Amino acid sequence: MYFSEEIIAEVQQRNDIVDVISQYVHLQKKGSNYTCCCPFHNEKTPSFSVNQARQMYKCFGCGEGGSVITFLQKYENYTFPEAIKYLAERAGIELPEDTNNAANKARDNRRARLLEVNKEAAKYYYYLLRSDKGKTGMDYLERRKLSEETRNKFGLGYASSYGNDLIAYLKSKGFKDDEIKDSGLAGFSEQKGLNSKFWNRVMFPIQDSNHRVIGFGGRVMGDGEPKYLNSPETEIFDKSRNLYGLNFARTARKNNMILCEGYMDVIALHQAGFNQAVASLGTAFTSGQANLLRRYTKDVLLAYDSDGAGTKAALRAIQILREAGLASKVINMKPYKDPDEFIKNLGAEEYQKRIDEAENSFLFQVRITESSFDMKDPDGRTRFYKEIAKLLSEFTDEIERENYLTAVANQYGVPRDSLREQVSKSAMQGEVKVIQRPQSAMGGAKAKAEDSKRKPQQLLLTWLAEEPQLYSKIKQYISAEDFTDELYQPVAKRFLEDLEKGNANPAVLISLLEDPEEQSKLSELFTTRLEEIHTKEERQKAFHDILVAVKTNSFEYYSSRAGTDINAINQVIAGKKALEELAKTHIFLD
Ligand code: CTP
Ligand code: MN
Repeated sequence: MYFSEEIIAEVQQRNDIVDVISQYVHLQKKGSNYTCCCPFHNEKTPSFSVNQARQMYKCFGCGEGGSVITFLQKYENYTFPEAIKYLAERAGIELPEDTNNAANKARDNRRARLLEVNKEAAKYYYYLLRSDKGKTGMDYLERRKLSEETRNKFGLGYASSYGNDLIAYLKSKGFKDDEIKDSGLAGFSEQKGLNSKFWNRVMFPIQDSNHRVIGFGGRVMGDGEPKYLNSPETEIFDKSRNLYGLNFARTARKNNMILCEGYMDVIALHQAGFNQAVASLGTAFTSGQANLLRRYTKDVLLAYDSDGAGTKAALRAIQILREAGLASKVINMKPYKDPDEFIKNLGAEEYQKRIDEAENSFLFQVRITESSFDMKDPDGRTRFYKEIAKLLSEFTDEIERENYLTAVANQYGVPRDSLREQVSKSAMQGEVKVIQRPQSAMGGAKAKAEDSKRKPQQLLLTWLAEEPQLYSKIKQYISAEDFTDELYQPVAKRFLEDLEKGNANPAVLISLLEDPEEQSKLSELFTTRLEEIHTKEERQKAFHDILVAVKTNSFEYYSSRAGTDINAINQVIAGKKALEELAKTHIFLD
């Protein structure tokens, strides 16, 4: 979607920044500016300031600043076009039709209709819960100690046990059969037509982070099965990219998020003041959800059930959070099963204490791992250490890895060096298969062992000299250390630096060398012609092969030196990761 400068300017002019921001926070006039506590970071005294004359905002605490458009992008998580559309609509500006985009438009319309169906259904369930027909639902929620305020905040509702009243209601609102069916609220059969999915359940509308209803969870009021029934995935309901409660939690202004297992846990936590709680949607926690959380926080507190299944799910979530670059801790809720039960029994203050005492998730992993080995048996202990070494070898950050290594070594009284040695061993084993050195790219000749190491390094440098633009595609995988050949390494170091700066010139490199013999070796390097490779596919494959050969050699080179040498261990761990990624990656040459 393209917007002209005029449109962008008009949209900004017609939406006063003070009015728009006031929709979200309480601004107070101070001199010529308006101020409040910053919505983008946690603070007690206001350092967020809006300048009406310049139509800009700025936080002197966290540095966040910008225009009315960037405010919405940040606060509402809108994309740029979404922010423009929102503001245009708000000001009654008609955006020019994007005629090229008929398909997009049809899709947007359809999504909008499905959102409408869900919204109307939520309204209907909400109304029913509060009517005479909803008494059993209301009694149930009261028994579960949900206050009126909480019931309303989460828009809780009730699906009746009588017939297809929801469907009649939706039809009366003008929705067509297939819209109702595709919203996931009803099944369809030739004989019976539309048939409500939810019967006699209390209903939890699931909202996306902009408060739009995208699906439902329905709970039986008692012991029936299944305990929860959830909307299926639809065009608007992607279970792996939304989180229950995030619409509130994202503006909680706490410095962490609490991740729990169930809808009731989220609701109980919010009711107790922990308004930063979210849960996945009846499915396991995903990396998409971790990415979502990362927009709002760096620290996640896990509040999973204390039973075996909960622990297992927590271990999985820890791994996913770590891969997404989020730190996590685990809240201990014993002797209770989940946050809901805990708070009901011990209250919010005790829960806050548990938050303060939450356990570092790596140490949690270690503790859980320990419990599955017989630590009195020397053999059991050995296997436990190997397991821990494997966990440690997954930290690519050296400082982090060393800190944990020290913590574990101290806790279990093992010498740091032997644990470190085990870490490098385990990094070397792993899933990395030693990749067959591709002959095709190396001139076909049966290369000698030494050559089979040098040749790919040489070819990679040559290739980069010819096509320096390829560097940006592979720089995440490669570093000068991978060029293990003693002549190539210093050259590669300088050459990669130059490529990074965008001014690589092999000729200059050569003239930097003083030793004529080295000069000639190097000019040989840079003038080696790549074998005639005809098709694009072949070239692509050859390039990939060469890269993999360089990385494999580097991995083996450092593996044989790793022991307790930290630099080598770093190379091994990073190398393993790069090889794993390369195995899944296609590098396109153009
Ligand atoms: N869940 C589900 N289907 C089920 C059981 C559970 O989708 N048959 C999902 C729901 O999202 C539920 C979450 O898993 O919120 C956690 O399940 P559970 O711990 O069994 O429920 P609680 O959250 O403890 O709910 P309640 O307190 O109502 O028993
Ligand atoms: Mn529960």
